[in-house]
Parts: sequence; structure tokens; C-alpha cells
Amino acid sequence: MSVTKAVIPAAGLGTRFLPATKATPKEMLPVVDKPAIQYVVEEAVAAGLDDLLFITGKSKRSLEDHFDRNAELEGALAAKGDSDRLSLVQFPTSLGHIHYVRQGEPLGLGHAVLQAEHHVGDEPFAVLLGDDLIDESNPILPRMLEVQRELGGSVICLMGVPPADISLYGCAAVKASDMPGILGISDLVEKPSADEAPSNFAIIGRYVLSPDVFSVLRETKPGKGGEIQLTDALRVLAQRGEVHGVVFDGLRYDTGDRLSYLKAVVSIAARRDDLGPPLRAWLEALVAGGFADLA
Ligand code: UTP
Repeated sequence: MSVTKAVIPAAGLGTRFLPATKATPKEMLPVVDKPAIQYVVEEAVAAGLDDLLFITGKSKRSLEDHFDRNAELEGALAAKGDSDRLSLVQFPTSLGHIHYVRQGEPLGLGHAVLQAEHHVGDEPFAVLLGDDLIDESNPILPRMLEVQRELGGSVICLMGVPPADISLYGCAAVKASDMPGILGISDLVEKPSADEAPSNFAIIGRYVLSPDVFSVLRETKPGKGGEIQLTDALRVLAQRGEVHGVVFDGLRYDTGDRLSYLKAVVSIAARRDDLGPPLRAWLEALVAGGFADLA
């Protein structure tokens, strides 16, 4: 069965980015001139997923407004004859069929995904974390969808990280497979210490999941941080031999983390035709001057 639905969890509290995220969802923070979540939605649509379900929560109103029409703004831009900006404003409303479900309380990513059960039904589906940007120069979702089609089960995305960083992620115990770039997953651990980690493969925010995950999630108790963890549910499926890993070696940013967010902004802007040349010249001068001239 081919995958058409993408679930985009965006109901977290975003505490690492306070106070910016007190009243604004972190998924709405601008990366250059688009909110982070628009990149994620564009990635899903580019991979052929046009049924998009956002998991939202408190303070997520601006997110819903962004993907809706804004008659007043559109009217003002049309009256000025500013067709370029008018199409920028209208574009997010044309990105697939958008649905919302609210997660009453942010009880964890696993709990957020469980809110999608009714909408998804009995078919495989993708999950794209709303604060995780995969640079469009190296998309990974099409490969993950292909692997799910060929092997069935669930597919997670793995990235090698330095041992000191593994405690920030879910971590996979892996075994070799016959397919290049694909690993069998025998176990998963959420945020292990460097000593306990079974590998240096971190799970990053793209998944293609079997609907079997829902019945496991319903039984999953709060784990690390007191949250219902998606990793803990996937662990049950991994121990049954039903999870495959795709290794990602492109660029990825966690826009919920301040440093990674800054890297996303600079690296995306530096490669754009409009902003890139002056920004790169300014960055080069800044570095050459040992950061003395911050003007
Ligand atoms: P994070 O763990 O990065 O989100 O979840 P967080 O809890 O908001 O982050 P901090 O640590 O407080 O800064 C990854 C993704 O899962 C969503 C988040 O919105 C983010 O897109 N999420 C997390 C939910 O939708 N619900 C939750 O209960 C937790």
C-alpha cells in the first residue's frame, strides 16, 4: 500500500528556545523568510505526500493561520499590484490537504503520534518532526518510502553523531543488511548515556511507520523525561524484527536548538541567489577580521 499521509507533530513546549517560544510555536520561527514548518511541509509534498495532519496544541494558532488564506493581506497586496508577494502569501495554502488534531497535553512524541490514529487508519504513514529540517539538497524521505514499500514494517532515519552527543537522541542497535545504506534494527534506546549507547547512530526526525505502532503506543508507559516516547514503542517493533534503518549523511538542523537553528538560517541564506552573495561577503569579512567588526 503506498503512503499518502504525513503526520507532523508540532505540539511540544519548545523549552530549549524560551523565551522566543513562550507565545510562538518553535515550528513557526523563521528560517530566513519562511517558518521552519513550511520547509517540512514542502519536503512532504515533494515526496508525494499530500495528506498532511498537524498535531498541534496550545499556542499553535499562528501555525493554523499560516496555512490558511488571509483575505485582508491578499487584498492589500493585490491592490498594490504586488503579485510576487501575493503568491508567496498564497503558496502555503496550496500545499496539499491539511488537517489538524490537538494533543490536549504535551505528554511526549509517542503520545502526539497516537493522536493521528483515527486519521491515519490502517495504512503506513510518514512522520516528519515539525522542528527538524532536512536540507533540500539531500532529501531522504523518498528513499525511506521506497524501503518501506520493498521491505514493509517501519523505517527510521539514522545519522552518525559524536559519542558525546548520543544522549540527546534515540539510539539504534544495528545489524548489517544486504541492501546498501540500509541497516536492520535490533533494539532502540531513548537518550542513552555514552556508555550505554549501543551505537553512534542517532534517530532523526523522519519516520515511515506501520500502523502497528498505534496498538503498541496505546500500551507504552512514560519513559525518559516522564514522556510517552515514540522510541519506546518502536523498540517493541524492532525487537520483532520489523524496523529498518536508512542512513542519512546530508545536512540536517534541529530548529528547536538555538545553535542548530542559527546554522540553518546562515547556511540556507548563504546559498540563496538573492541573499547569498552579500551575506557570504559579510561573513568572510567577519571571519577575516577575527569577528572584530560586527557591524
Ligand atoms: P522535542 O522533544 O524536540 O520538542 O520534540 P519539545 O518537547 O517541544 O522540545 P524542548 O526540549 O522542550 O525544547 C520533537 C517534536 O515533537 C513534537 C515537538 O513539537 C517537535 O516537533 N512534540 C513533542 C509534540 O508534538 N508533542 C509532545 O508532547 C512532545
